[in-house]
Amino acid sequence: MTDKKKLGRNEKDSNDDMINLVDNVNRVEDLKYNRRAFLKTAVGASVALGVATIPFSVRAVLGFDEDEKERVEIAKMEDLPKGSSKTFYYPEDEAALLVHTANGDLVAYNSSCTHLMCPVTYEKEKDILLCPCHKGYFDINTGHPVAGPPQRELPLIEIEVENGVVYAVGRKFRHG
Ligand code: FES
Repeated sequence: MTDKKKLGRNEKDSNDDMINLVDNVNRVEDLKYNRRAFLKTAVGASVALGVATIPFSVRAVLGFDEDEKERVEIAKMEDLPKGSSKTFYYPEDEAALLVHTANGDLVAYNSSCTHLMCPVTYEKEKDILLCPCHKGYFDINTGHPVAGPPQRELPLIEIEVENGVVYAVGRKFRHG
């Protein structure tokens, strides 16, 4: 009858205790080095990721994004009498509104309401921007909310007029 010993997880099929002992010591060393290597890699990856995102953080803090600095033609002044407005997109898929106010000023904002994104329209009679969904009002001169549920101002579209043509040239978020 064979007296076969049942082996433990880290035991060798040997009766030599010295062999088993050395093998266990090696495993302990392996674990120690693997843990250390893992920690080094994890810390290295975190630092690399942090450094890589610095330029984006700086741009966010300064309130602009290079992609939003492109120049896009919006309208010809002759097609935009005082008291009228025109919808356009800036950057390319975000709805915006250019307004030639009753006073003769030109202003432009992204037109998604900062409450729940309904489109904002220009109310010529009151010279104000209105979100009809929950009666949110924005100041035409600043884009700041003045009544209703919206709490944040509309993103400002920077514009330039050249040879009778209005261009969008940038966008500013003035709120965190
Ligand atoms: S979505 Fe504009 S007020 Fe609610």
